[in-house]
Amino acid sequence: MQKYSRFSDVSVSEKILNTAFLVTIGIAYMFALLNLYYTHEGRDGKPGLSVADVKLAYYGSHNQTRLGAAINGPMESNLPNAAAKTDILNWLANGTTKDEFQAKIKPILDNNCIMCHSAESGMSIPHLTSYEEVLKLTGTDTGATIPALVRVSHIHLFGIAFILFFVGRIFILCEMPRWLKRVMVAIPFLFLIGDIASWYFAKIIPGFAYVVIAAGALMGLSFSAQILFSLYQMWFYKKTPSQS
Ligand code: HEC
Repeated sequence: MQKYSRFSDVSVSEKILNTAFLVTIGIAYMFALLNLYYTHEGRDGKPGLSVADVKLAYYGSHNQTRLGAAINGPMESNLPNAAAKTDILNWLANGTTKDEFQAKIKPILDNNCIMCHSAESGMSIPHLTSYEEVLKLTGTDTGATIPALVRVSHIHLFGIAFILFFVGRIFILCEMPRWLKRVMVAIPFLFLIGDIASWYFAKIIPGFAYVVIAAGALMGLSFSAQILFSLYQMWFYKKTPSQS
């Protein structure tokens, strides 16, 4: 019978390398979750991350402007005080005139926003340096733009595919029923692709926010299971004689 390699065939230095890699990936994943929390938390005006926040991120609010949604949500902390927010919201409500922009809005943006929202920053986010540019953000908030989703999708797919591949390579050295292993190596990839596909549906149908969350959570769980199984079997698992 063909011999497949298992953790019992692996040298201690290779186990240490595998362990260091898996633990670091586990820590990186925690930071990814924290980053997710800080990006979407509070979009709906309430602290903490909720389904409503995810709906707003993808579908948008459809009853406020993109600029209004940003300063009521993730960009609020960049404003110096509540008065500045009220000034911007009033300008949006009063018909976005150029005079009011120059007098009241531009100073706020110049002091608090353009360090990121300008050509100089090199960030691929809308510029807030002129009246014309800011006017483009006074349309209805329809959530994440397609170019923004495409940008995040390609980074996620390339990057996470690598991570899942290397974690999966280590995981296939575990001892377990063949069918279970075959299912477990494929699952994180399916949920990854499903999660990213659901972002686009969530942009059109707000209820898909639940699918975004579920697919993302299941990807995280299945991938964490691979890491934990691998760490356990690498160091603690002893083959019973019947399995050899
Ligand atoms: C530290 C850098 C930084 C500062 C300062 C900053 N922003 Fe942002 N802003 C970002 C980033 C990054 C994004 C993209 C976030 C995303 O796509 O989730 C963004 C997104 C936005 C958007 C949404 C753009 C869109 O495509 O719909 C608006 C509107 C916005 N910011 C307004 C502001 C305003 C107004 C201020 C000042 C009060 C401000 N930002 C200050 C970094 C910054």
